[in-house]
Amino acid sequence: MNEIKTDQSQNRIMIIASGNAGKRDEIEKICGDLDFSFKTLRDYWDPVPQIEETGETFLENAFIKAQWVFDRLGLPTLADDSGLQVDCLGGEPGVRSARYAGENATDEQNNRKLLKKCAECSGQRRSARFRCVIVCIFSPEKSIAVEGMCEGKIGYSPKGNGGFGYDPLFIPDGYDMSFAQLDSATKNTVSHRGKALKKLKEKLRNISV
Ligand code: IMP
Repeated sequence: MNEIKTDQSQNRIMIIASGNAGKRDEIEKICGDLDFSFKTLRDYWDPVPQIEETGETFLENAFIKAQWVFDRLGLPTLADDSGLQVDCLGGEPGVRSARYAGENATDEQNNRKLLKKCAECSGQRRSARFRCVIVCIFSPEKSIAVEGMCEGKIGYSPKGNGGFGYDPLFIPDGYDMSFAQLDSATKNTVSHRGKALKKLKEKLRNISV
């Protein structure tokens, strides 16, 4: 088993396989009272490495990212992967959510492409879900994975200015507003990521590494 590394506060170190400080804030908001100190790749690399997401599923991609970092740092590592699946498009954009309209596509370009592809679908056929998978690798023998899902449908035009990605087009079940129209606290309680993080917290609370 790997030696457990702690910081000055005796918290166990957990690397987040991302350079995004916003991601760490989001994780700390939910898991901050556990005895883990969350670090990002920015704390270890400059420039931050871009890990290629070559998987065909969210689980594969999360695992690829966590494994890449674990292989190099040998420290417990957390990685997430998320995206949107639209039923009338056979689950597209899925793992290609970030690059649906091309490698460096903007959110606006991705949303425009999604709306165009859904033009022939109406009513129930516009059902969709956001999924988020989080993987933690603690040692070569020990890893965990959790998943959060948020069911909803694709709207007919972008609505709202909040959030990011496909938020203006995604209407979660039980609401008649898009993710981009909901305040962030409400989005966090129903979102795929919020749900995955709550499951992660329960697992981390009980983990023995
Ligand atoms: P990531 O794996 O969290 O980086 O998400 C990949 C892509 O999925 C993002 O670039 C967005 O296009 C889309 N996505 C994931 N989560 C959300 C969300 O909560 N709202 C809107 N789009 C999202």
